[in-house]
Amino acid sequence: MCSILLIVTFAVALFLAAPGDGLMRVVLDFDRYEMFNGTDFFNMEKFRVRKFNRTLSVMNGTGVLLVDLDNRYTFGVDFARSAQGNNQFQAYPMKLAAKPFCQFVNLYYREYQHLFLKYTNLPFVPPEGLCPFPNGSYWAKDAHIDSSVIPLVVPEGLWRCTIDLVDTENGVLVSRAFMFVRLTKELT
Ligand SMILES: *[C@@H]1O[C@H](CO)[C@@H](O)[C@H](O)[C@H]1NC(C)=O
Ligand SMILES: *[C@@H]1O[C@H](CO)[C@@H](O)[C@H](O)[C@H]1NC(C)=O
Ligand SMILES: *[C@@H]1O[C@H](CO)[C@@H](O)[C@H](O)[C@H]1NC(C)=O
Ligand SMILES: *[C@@H]1O[C@H](CO)[C@@H](O)[C@H](O)[C@H]1NC(C)=O
Repeated sequence: MCSILLIVTFAVALFLAAPGDGLMRVVLDFDRYEMFNGTDFFNMEKFRVRKFNRTLSVMNGTGVLLVDLDNRYTFGVDFARSAQGNNQFQAYPMKLAAKPFCQFVNLYYREYQHLFLKYTNLPFVPPEGLCPFPNGSYWAKDAHIDSSVIPLVVPEGLWRCTIDLVDTENGVLVSRAFMFVRLTKELT
């Protein structure tokens, strides 16, 4: 899950990426993650999101991917927002539609992997792709995203990213994870 959370986090950041106008800035605060039903696939017991300073949260620790992930599995991310931060979530139209896992990695992650290869031991994904994505222990050390890549048009609130992994051979949702991120804006 470590690898997946990292991939998603960066994919999300880059999906949203656009230049800001310099007067305001977005502050992205990882709140927590929750995972259901993924224990045959991931071990996240030693993976944490922690506050580094007021405006930055980092991912630190080791996550174990227990199986090779290939295109048998689809991977997708949905977004919902709670404007008041009170856990009343409304679906947001943007999403990273479910795609076969290796395609997802190649489409949303590969071009931007240099941004965080320095914080992790995730495998390098070459231009021709990496399939399957290999099982293994992946560490992250103070991995973070620069909030300045998030455009100011993205509304404030508590955001919930729903990350689903589905086995296409039997339609089983093998893992669902929620990542909660608080987005606020402040004057620079
Ligand atoms: C998936 O997780 C939910 C919530 O923890 C649990 O109620 C359900 O029984 C689990 N399903 C399977 C197939 O493990
Ligand atoms: C938090 O730490 C980051 C990375 O060292 C730094 O760029 C940023 O300015 C810090 N923020 C505050 C409010 O100190
Ligand atoms: C990150 O994890 C490493 C290894 O567990 C630990 O030594 C380090 O202090 C952690 N970093 C922070 C900022 O807590
Ligand atoms: C884990 O990786 C090893 C080495 O590449 C491979 O032989 C094995 O089949 C993989 N296990 C699973 C469950 O994918």
